[in-house]
Amino acid sequence: MNRKVALVTGAGRTNGLGLATARALAQQGFHVIVTARTDAQAEEQASALRAEGHRAEGYRLDLAATDEFPGVAKRIQADHGHLDVLINNASVFPDMNTSTALDAPTNDIRAAFDVNVVGPWALTVALRPLLEAAPAARVVNISSGAYQQITFLGEQPGDVGAPAYSFTKHTLNYLTLMLAAAFRDTKVLVNSVDPGRADTHPELGTDEEDMPPSVAAGWIAKAATLPENGPSGAIFLNGHRVG
Ligand SMILES: NC(=O)c1ccc[n+]([C@@H]2O[C@H](COP(=O)([O-])OP(=O)(O)OC[C@H]3O[C@@H](n4cnc5c(N)ncnc54)[C@H](OP(=O)(O)O)[C@@H]3O)[C@@H](O)[C@H]2O)c1
Repeated sequence: MNRKVALVTGAGRTNGLGLATARALAQQGFHVIVTARTDAQAEEQASALRAEGHRAEGYRLDLAATDEFPGVAKRIQADHGHLDVLINNASVFPDMNTSTALDAPTNDIRAAFDVNVVGPWALTVALRPLLEAAPAARVVNISSGAYQQITFLGEQPGDVGAPAYSFTKHTLNYLTLMLAAAFRDTKVLVNSVDPGRADTHPELGTDEEDMPPSVAAGWIAKAATLPENGPSGAIFLNGHRVG
């Protein structure tokens, strides 16, 4: 039987959730395609996984360069013929210090939508034939608890911090629902994971409440390996369905 293949976006950082998720899937026997904005980043992390005894290769994949997605699909088709897991992990957080929607710089709004929404959507579309060629593919969109600021805005009006980022993560959850519906007659399940707070930027200081990236990655890997009768269109937090 062919080995299962997983692709993880935004996996070029040593402490990031992307690489931790690639490692978690590799530990479960997946051949992982580690992707990053540059060939050097992707290959550095893929070779780190290979040094740990895993099967991994690096691809350059910039989520803002949607016109390059068909080339990525072509390469996976030639090398593997199918894709079992797509983890849409890459993300930008350009307006971290913006505290209301009225202060959001237009460039931040545009950048957040390009990478956090348009990228995962277009990539899923580009990889569709490969996902449908797998026996039971799973797509996992990495969301954020920030989406809740918008979900509950009707009940609790107030300022939305990091409005562009938060709005894209809210939108991403609806993209999950829409893709799940579109794949309903296939074996492809699409879900969102809110990874909680993970210590992925130790260079900025650590918070005791943050979990190690490997723990959050475990929850992501769980959503990537749901059983055949698993949900589609759901949001998971710490392994539990919350939406
Ligand atoms: N850590 C947390 O507590 C937390 C909480 C809630 C949600 N999340 C979500 O979890 C995911 C991973 O976050 P993280 O904490 O591991 O942060 P991170 O390391 O900053 O992850 C973002 C990754 O996306 C990559 N990226 C940015 N723009 C890209 C593009 N155009 N094309 C391809 N890759 C791009 C970054 O690459 P570069 O290195 O090249 O910039 C980086 O590797 C994100 O979706 C984030 O929103 C994390």
